[in-house]
Amino acid sequence: MAATSVVVLDRGNNTTCTINLHGATVVSWRVNNQEQLFVSKQAVFDGKKAIRGGIPFVFPQFGSWTYGPQHGFARIVPWNLEKTPERLASGDVEAVFSIMDTDFTRSMWNFQFRLTYRLILREKELHFNIAVYNPSKDLTFSFNMLLHTYFKVPDVRRCQITGLQGCTFIDKTRDGAVYQEARDVVTINEWTDRVYQNTPQEHIITNVVSGRKMRIQKYNFPDTVIWNPWVDHAKDMSDFGDDEYPNMVCVEAGHVSSPVILLPGTAFEASQILQVM
Ligand code: BG6
Repeated sequence: MAATSVVVLDRGNNTTCTINLHGATVVSWRVNNQEQLFVSKQAVFDGKKAIRGGIPFVFPQFGSWTYGPQHGFARIVPWNLEKTPERLASGDVEAVFSIMDTDFTRSMWNFQFRLTYRLILREKELHFNIAVYNPSKDLTFSFNMLLHTYFKVPDVRRCQITGLQGCTFIDKTRDGAVYQEARDVVTINEWTDRVYQNTPQEHIITNVVSGRKMRIQKYNFPDTVIWNPWVDHAKDMSDFGDDEYPNMVCVEAGHVSSPVILLPGTAFEASQILQVM
């Protein structure tokens, strides 16, 4: 299958989820015909560049990387469709994607691994179940992982994000200075790039599409990254329109401020549930 071919989960009632096999990037999630995810009009689908928007899969590195591309290789490699979309007894639709090590991945990160990514589309929810397995008999590896979700919003300045009060955060817009969040809800009015640490399992974003709320629930993802490039940094990206920044907010569940350390023969599991409220 070509790197940029897509897989569609169709639950009926115009509720669908589309996954591009390039990076297993979720490029669309429609609930009753309403798109929930932002994908830039300038996004490139060449099977090489990471797709600008939707939900890129960040692994095994978050941020810049000495041995390979920013945010790792998972978002720029072709994934396998392990299980074609199947309707469950509940009416929900499930599909499973996977990657394992190749010559290309070992050239940057010389470990055997197997990564499976199960998506389940429910009426108003999208579930993500992830497992990383270390098949080695003697080598331990460590990694970062993050779901780089771009939510579509009418105006980011009107969104409020709950669940961050009291958390420490690394502010990447201020050379990585560490602060503590005082606000009960976080609002965004400028370039924002923060790694919040030890966040609770749930966040709610207000004023997403159709004036609704989005609930994010996460398990085994201790960190939450909040990102919006704002006008100046939007201009720095060739695959992002200069005027698109008000229409997106990235709220990213991850394990990034400390690595996951995976012993030989063991697995790491994490999950996320997105729910339109
Ligand atoms: C965020 C990072 O998760 O991703 C930002 O915190 C980064 O620093 C952003 O700019 C987008 O990264 P990329 O590689 O997709 O342009």
